[in-house]
Amino acid sequence: MTETQVPDEPVVDATRGSFKLTHVAEQNIERQAFILDQMASQPAVKTLKMWALRHLAPAMGETAVDVGSGTGEDVVAFAELVGPDGHAIGVEPSPGLRAEAVRRSAGVQVEYVDGHAEALPFGDESVDVLRCERVLQHVDNPAAVVQEMTRVLRPGGRIALIDTDWATAIIHPADPDVLQRMVDYFLSESANPFSGRQLRGLLAEAGLEITGETASTWIEAQEGARQGFIAMMHLTAAQAGVITPAEADNFAKGLAEAADRGAFHMSLTMYAVSALKPRAA
Ligand SMILES: C[S@@+](CC[C@H](N)C(=O)[O-])C[C@H]1O[C@@H](n2cnc3c(N)ncnc32)[C@H](O)[C@@H]1O
Repeated sequence: MTETQVPDEPVVDATRGSFKLTHVAEQNIERQAFILDQMASQPAVKTLKMWALRHLAPAMGETAVDVGSGTGEDVVAFAELVGPDGHAIGVEPSPGLRAEAVRRSAGVQVEYVDGHAEALPFGDESVDVLRCERVLQHVDNPAAVVQEMTRVLRPGGRIALIDTDWATAIIHPADPDVLQRMVDYFLSESANPFSGRQLRGLLAEAGLEITGETASTWIEAQEGARQGFIAMMHLTAAQAGVITPAEADNFAKGLAEAADRGAFHMSLTMYAVSALKPRAA
């Protein structure tokens, strides 16, 4: 399963909504910005963004980097804290998202650079503060990525990782067998669907000292039964042939009817972990 929610529309084109590096060329930026805005408006996401900023505590004059910066919201938040003598930098491989971030950051002292998490465009120990949110689920080798982040972090530098764990997704009501086939399909399409549970270990194994961890659950509103992620998952699964068109129809009808009774449920838990790069002994 991936964050590929779409506005209310029947078109199913998972690649154009995908955040995978390999799909950068085919992306529909308007749709991606819509998805990111929708996510950023969720209380669970806001809570984790604020938690990470508090733990990272960027100071005036520091260099603060957001890896996979999307539309730039978190880079703008960094800019306010590092001030005119500091550097707020977003690393983003998608040219369209970088352009959108530049547009949204007009008048703010920020930089958006082309690059990816696997080979960050920074020297060793040159970054004071680094964050990375909902990116590791899209990478093939998250341990190598966290090692790379550790390389650029200066001793005493702070890092925060945020990610979803798709095994925590609950959708109710649904035929268990149909739902299982859909979930299995989405998990198999995802580079790293269980990223949330791995964050702590990745940081610890990179030699970093854990300074905090938390979780936040997104509970979808009743309207969500007919739009966004739910509106597209059964269509995508039917298109992939893992459920039949009739099963897809029943799935959608069942959720819509449940929402009319106020009985629809969808939830997903996201995790955040912060750490410090120890100073040499
Ligand atoms: C779900 S979005 C999250 C965006 C942003 N961090 C936020 O919280 O709104 C994932 C972002 O990671 C970027 N991305 C995907 N693979 C990446 C990689 N290997 N290195 C860096 N960024 C990557 C995507 O282009 C996209 O901007």
